[in-house]
Amino acid sequence: MARLTDVFAAHESQVRSYCRSFPHVLTTAKGSFVYDHEGREYIDFLAGAGTLNYGHNDPDMKSALMAYIAGDGIAHGLDLHTAAKGDFLSAFHEVVLEPRHMDYKVQFTGPTGTNAVEAALKLARKVTGRTNVIAFTNAFHGVSMGSLAATGNSHHRMSGLGLQGVTRMPYDGYYGTDIDTSELLARMLDDSSSGVDAPAAIILECVQGEGGLNQVSSAWLRHVAGLAGQHGALIIVDDCQAGCGRTGTFFSFEDMGVMPDLVVLAKSISGFGLPMSVLLIRPDIDRWEPGEHNGTFRGNAHAFVTAEVAIRKFWAGAEFAEVVGHRSGLLRTRLAEIAEAMPGSRVKGRGMMQGLDVIDEDVSVAVRQTCAANGLLIEAGGTHDEVIKVMAPLTTDDATLERGLEILRSAVSQHAEDQRVTPVAG
Ligand SMILES: Cc1ncc(COP(=O)(O)O)c(C=O)c1O
Repeated sequence: MARLTDVFAAHESQVRSYCRSFPHVLTTAKGSFVYDHEGREYIDFLAGAGTLNYGHNDPDMKSALMAYIAGDGIAHGLDLHTAAKGDFLSAFHEVVLEPRHMDYKVQFTGPTGTNAVEAALKLARKVTGRTNVIAFTNAFHGVSMGSLAATGNSHHRMSGLGLQGVTRMPYDGYYGTDIDTSELLARMLDDSSSGVDAPAAIILECVQGEGGLNQVSSAWLRHVAGLAGQHGALIIVDDCQAGCGRTGTFFSFEDMGVMPDLVVLAKSISGFGLPMSVLLIRPDIDRWEPGEHNGTFRGNAHAFVTAEVAIRKFWAGAEFAEVVGHRSGLLRTRLAEIAEAMPGSRVKGRGMMQGLDVIDEDVSVAVRQTCAANGLLIEAGGTHDEVIKVMAPLTTDDATLERGLEILRSAVSQHAEDQRVTPVAG
């Protein structure tokens, strides 16, 4: 009889990726743990690439969804009014937007991050009547053609075939700490002979999830947002991965003194791993004609049900953010200790979106394989997957976080001698 794992190699496209570094067949999951078909338990430091900020199968979301389905709730709604959508919109407005003094219209796009990014780019181009978009080095905005044009990684860009309308600029820190890349951007935008066409938008992630946990400073972000305003461009924050609490606040830019024109949310917005994305639009630039940007799956009613529970359960008060803040500190401390075991490595990122840059792709692979063998599911980002990323659910209790980090520490120590990079200062 064929092994269960053989079916994937036999029938699934070569394009499959995560399963190559973690080939176990997963069956069930609860909280911060996943289980494979042979009953092995893994601590989950991947969390569905950031789609499970509240862990697997949260009991309140699960029972709300089961009750909704048992009551024959509408499953598919195009963009018809449904009670589930209305309840989500009310909760999002009351709990997330209003307390933060944020005034946005909510557009339901297709259910993936890239769908919402496409909508943001298209709307920015429509509103400004311009084509060019500024995107940054190491950015990841998705892999459909418009978003891919703004994505940096050559592996995904496939030689840039057909990718248009984007000017690449260096992200904060791209040349180290001595060069302020927002000044470079200012110069390029100010100089009418720089060859950079007036942009419709500047799109960025405050922490680059796939790009290797690079992050912007508040000063850099404010300068870039100011430049956008000055040059008639819209500022788009792509919060697909860094949003929904991942950095410690609901939005990654929350404490940074900037109010973007457009905000993209996806991944954990449904709270339950169900596909759902939204584009937040400053009301005066909500210039779509009815149906102008459409799609069949713009509103996943099941995702609305769990999203409403997630928002009310975790964001109605300040406690959850405080707990996440505490856990982020714990994570930072432990990662700094682990980094000491591997010369040249360093801690990157912020909040519950931190990791270890081990510089070498092979070392990163070896560490993650050892982690998997010892019961920890963990992935990597960066140009060569050299940054091992801790993306544990935000709800992971301290003891489980410590256990997972101990598995990581032991794997890093084991492979430290494989790391032949000269220690760098600072
Ligand atoms: C910042 C960011 N934007 C966009 C996307 C694309 O989202 P999706 O894979 O759901 O299309 C991702 C996915 O990792 C992301 O991290």
